Amino acid sequence: MENTSPQSPDPAAVQSPVQDLTQLRVAVIGAGNMGGPVVRAFLAAGVRPGKLAIVNSTPASSERAAEELGAIAASRAEALEGADVVVLGVKPYQILELAAEIREQLPAGALVISLAAGIALSQIEDALPAGLSVERAMPNTPISVGEGAVGLMRGSSVTDEQHALTRTLFSRAGVAVDITEEQVHAFIAAAGSLPGFVFSILEAMSDEAVRLGLKRDLADSLVQQTVRGAATMLMESGVHAAVAKNGVSSPGGTTVQGLSVLEREGVRPGVAAAMAAAARTSREMTGA
Ligand SMILES: NC(=O)c1ccc[n+]([C@@H]2O[C@H](COP(=O)([O-])OP(=O)(O)OC[C@H]3O[C@@H](n4cnc5c(N)ncnc54)[C@H](OP(=O)(O)O)[C@@H]3O)[C@@H](O)[C@H]2O)c1
Repeated sequence: MENTSPQSPDPAAVQSPVQDLTQLRVAVIGAGNMGGPVVRAFLAAGVRPGKLAIVNSTPASSERAAEELGAIAASRAEALEGADVVVLGVKPYQILELAAEIREQLPAGALVISLAAGIALSQIEDALPAGLSVERAMPNTPISVGEGAVGLMRGSSVTDEQHALTRTLFSRAGVAVDITEEQVHAFIAAAGSLPGFVFSILEAMSDEAVRLGLKRDLADSLVQQTVRGAATMLMESGVHAAVAKNGVSSPGGTTVQGLSVLEREGVRPGVAAAMAAAARTSREMTGA
């Protein structure tokens, strides 16, 4: 007879920090423009405020950030003691020196997550004790509203469980995708730097709406809502942008006339050139 009784839970799975972030101890060294939103995302994912310690360059700065973000401030030694996850959120030029300074303080089995652009996994791994697990996470600023994108690069010692933990920690940031270090330059073009390009295009659209006679507030809200709506339509329907574009182009109508001007004015090559410049600069920063 088939056994229909419920399976007893696997104790390892129940105790896994991937399942239960409430027991996880996290240290964030450098909670600034990017580290701050990462702290918010981790708290939203379920890390307890009392177990997320922030270390900035001075105690006063750590206290300020901790209060603003809803976590606790700590000294570097306090934060690292017993930490399961250590986020390195300092500037790229500081990160290898920081790694060398903390290498003796890192608990064995800790997972280190670097946010630094342009610093390879192998460089960070070399600065830390052999075999320590290191991931790179490349977030963009919309993670601050839970609508960002995070590219995850997995170091050679990272276990499946640690990688699952990283994905869980970023689960409330927006989308988290696995990429290779070779793909990070394209990721920066398509996600890291893209918010800046979108802000610039939104500004141009709002300005033109004002020139055409709308009040600034109305122009801004119409443009923002429409861009969000257009992106949501594509995401929810799975329809390709080219198909959606054809769908709003009536013969001889307003949209198709505007689209032909966009093509003539070189918007597509302009966007492509901006993204290529971001990817090229990322490559140059890495020395790749
Ligand atoms: N900004 C982005 O859009 C973005 C995107 C992807 C990746 N990143 C990466 O995120 C990292 C941080 O960039 P950011 O823009 O967030 O820079 P940031 O705003 O200047 O933040 C750097 C943080 O590091 C802290 N810090 C500096 N020296 C420290 C030390 N010795 N010990 C502990 N904390 C220290 C600073 O504290 P104080 O405020 O006290 O000085 C500050 O909180 C970089 O590696 C960057 O490549 C940034």
